[in-house]
Amino acid sequence: MSTARPSAAGRGAPVDAPRVALVGANGHGRSHRRVIGALHDVGRVRLVALVDTRPLEDEPAAPVPADTRVFADHREMLAAVAPDVVVICTPPHTHLPIALDALAAGADLLLEKPPVLCSEEHDELTGALAATGRLAQVGFQALGSAALTALTDAITAGRLGRLTGISTVAAWQRPDGYYARSPWAGRRSLGGRPVLDGALANPLAHAVMQCLAVAEAVTGAPVRPETIEVERYRVRPIEVDDTAVLRVRSAGGPPIVAAVTLAGEAFVPGEVTVTGHAGRAVLEYPTDRLLLPGDEAPREVPGRRGLLENLIEHRADRTVPLIAPLARTAPFTAVLTALRAAPEPRLLGGDVVEQVGAGAERIVRIRGINEVLRTAADRGALPSELGVPWAVPPWRPQG
Ligand SMILES: NC(=O)c1ccc[n+]([C@@H]2O[C@H](COP(=O)([O-])OP(=O)(O)OC[C@H]3O[C@@H](n4cnc5c(N)ncnc54)[C@H](O)[C@@H]3O)[C@@H](O)[C@H]2O)c1
Repeated sequence: MSTARPSAAGRGAPVDAPRVALVGANGHGRSHRRVIGALHDVGRVRLVALVDTRPLEDEPAAPVPADTRVFADHREMLAAVAPDVVVICTPPHTHLPIALDALAAGADLLLEKPPVLCSEEHDELTGALAATGRLAQVGFQALGSAALTALTDAITAGRLGRLTGISTVAAWQRPDGYYARSPWAGRRSLGGRPVLDGALANPLAHAVMQCLAVAEAVTGAPVRPETIEVERYRVRPIEVDDTAVLRVRSAGGPPIVAAVTLAGEAFVPGEVTVTGHAGRAVLEYPTDRLLLPGDEAPREVPGRRGLLENLIEHRADRTVPLIAPLARTAPFTAVLTALRAAPEPRLLGGDVVEQVGAGAERIVRIRGINEVLRTAADRGALPSELGVPWAVPPWRPQG
């Protein structure tokens, strides 16, 4: 920890630039500080306040400008500096109350994902946006990818023919230290409020959202999930899944299967595969590498649009569409609503898993998990339907 340092550049934004505050300035908030800092230095925004309930961590790549104020309470900040835009990067279960306060104070939002934790909260936030006339952009940054647009353009141009399925595979490894970093990590609820920090809901939320965005391109609007089936597993005594296979069917959209783990054997950053009668496309969403029918190898499609920059542009010119408006995330939140009611995930142990390393760096891997996930994604099947010995029947929420 260290105290905030004045901006080395000593530059500042013009006084009429949108005044931005960041709530949740440590953790992932540091990457927002870098983005805001760069926009501040070129005069596109003015960073007026940082808020965190903990002391501010140093972020050498984004020194705090000299006149930026630092608060421990977002309400105090809203009353003191009245920002135009509030970036919210606090734990998921705190998003809705902070967002409602910021809207009531007249600010637009860049709200980290998952924006809210159930469809009722989504509706409440939608209502508050309508009542205040403010805007919300959600932190699904991979939606700003030119590679995703190239993929959806190819789909709508018919290059894949009629789509038969959308799937995603991601295999990451998270050590014990990841779950020790914050009180909400790996929790289903905290202080009586749902947290839902599972692999699908949080670290691999982008994989799910990219699939839903592809389905949206097919149907022309955010899809409405009709059936949701999910198998959830964990390798540690956490309350949520670190491994899950989700299948979503929606009216008019191809079926979606998301097969993800934080207990992978080999690293798969995140691949979205779209299959149609005329061909198959693969998007590696974290790297914007895209393979379209006829391509010999994946190619990088550069040109990601930043969410804050896009929000600033949209505020100034409403003909510039928002990349990730709240409405676009409704199907993702519908998935979370289903997960909220799901039973505790199955704890895998014994010979099914292997442990590597020690202390905070210890990881646990599920033997053969990469093959299970790939097969599930390829066949549109859940592990229990593939005869995986440790699999349990899926959860299917009623109604
Ligand atoms: N878009 C992405 O790729 C991405 C990546 C990582 C995290 N996130 C999201 O960012 C959010 C934060 O995640 P994290 O991993 O940084 O969490 P974290 O727990 O590591 O950090 C959250 C910070 O918020 C602060 N905080 C908590 N309650 C607060 C409050 N009421 N007011 C002000 N500050 C408060 C904490 O002190 C902490 O510094 C989550 O919604 C997470 O899903 C998004």
